[in-house]
Amino acid sequence: MGAKKERKMELNPEAMPRHIAIIMDGNGRWAKKRGLSRSMGHREGSRVLKIIVEECYNLGIRYLTVFAFSCENWSRPQEEVDQLFRLMMEYLKNSEKELKGKPVRIRVIGDKSGLPEELVSEIRRVEQNTAHIDGLDLIIAINYGGRQDILNACRTLLDDYKNDRIGESGITMDALAQRLWTAGIPDPDLLIRTSGEIRFSNFLLWQCAYSELYFTDTLWPDFRKKHLHDAIAHYQRRERRFGGL
Ligand code: IPE
Ligand code: IPE
Ligand code: MG
Repeated sequence: MGAKKERKMELNPEAMPRHIAIIMDGNGRWAKKRGLSRSMGHREGSRVLKIIVEECYNLGIRYLTVFAFSCENWSRPQEEVDQLFRLMMEYLKNSEKELKGKPVRIRVIGDKSGLPEELVSEIRRVEQNTAHIDGLDLIIAINYGGRQDILNACRTLLDDYKNDRIGESGITMDALAQRLWTAGIPDPDLLIRTSGEIRFSNFLLWQCAYSELYFTDTLWPDFRKKHLHDAIAHYQRRERRFGGL
C-alpha cells in the first residue's frame, strides 16, 4: 500500500470538518524561489485551488472558503492586482467545465463594489448557474476583510433598526451574523494558512472565534492533497471545548 493511501486512511470520515477555510498564501515567494514572476506564482496557486476543491469534495467537506484577495491587497502594484483579477475571471469561466460534473456551488463573498465590472458579472453568472447545486459549497473571498465585514453588518443592523425592521432586543449576535457576507454559512471548523505566516490578515475575524487553527510552512503552490490530509488529521486530534470542560 502506498504511503499516500496510508495517510488518507488515518482520517476519520466520521469526524471531518464541515467547513474548512484557507488563507492561500506564499504564491509570490514560490515564484521568487524559481526566478519566476509573481504572476506565475498566482497562476500556479490557481491550479492548486482546483486540486484542493476536488479533494474537499471527495472527502465530503461541505464548505470550503478560500481567501483570494483581501481589501488590503489593493496596495500591491496595479499590474499584479489586474493579473489576480484576470486569473479569477479565468478560474470562474472554466470552473464548471473543469469540475467535470462534480457538484460544487460557487459563491463569492466580499465587497463587490470595488471590483471590475466584467468580474462582477462573471461572478453573478457562476453564482446563478451553480445556485441549485447541492454538494460542496466553494466560497471565494474577493475584496474581503473581516473588519469590513463586521462594520458592514453593523451598518445594515443600524439601518434595519432605524426602519423598524428590528427592535433593540433584536440586536443580537445571531442578528449580526445574519448580516455578515457569510450569512447562512456555518463558522469554519478548521482554518489553514500556508507559507509560514502566523496571522489572520483580516480574514473571517468574527467567524473564526472558535475555529481550530493550522499553520504550515508549505507555500500555497506546493500545497497538495497530502498537505490537506495532514491538516485534517491534526484537526481530528484536537479537543474542541468551546469554553466548556
Ligand atoms: C497569496 O500569495 C495570494 C494573494 C495574497 C493574492 P502572496 O502574493 O501573498 O505571496 P507572498 O506572500 O508574497 O509569497
Ligand atoms: C492574505 O495574504 C490575503 C490572501 C491570501 C488573499 P497577504 O499576503 O495579503 O497577507 P500579509 O500581507 O502577509 O499579512
Ligand atoms: Mg502573502
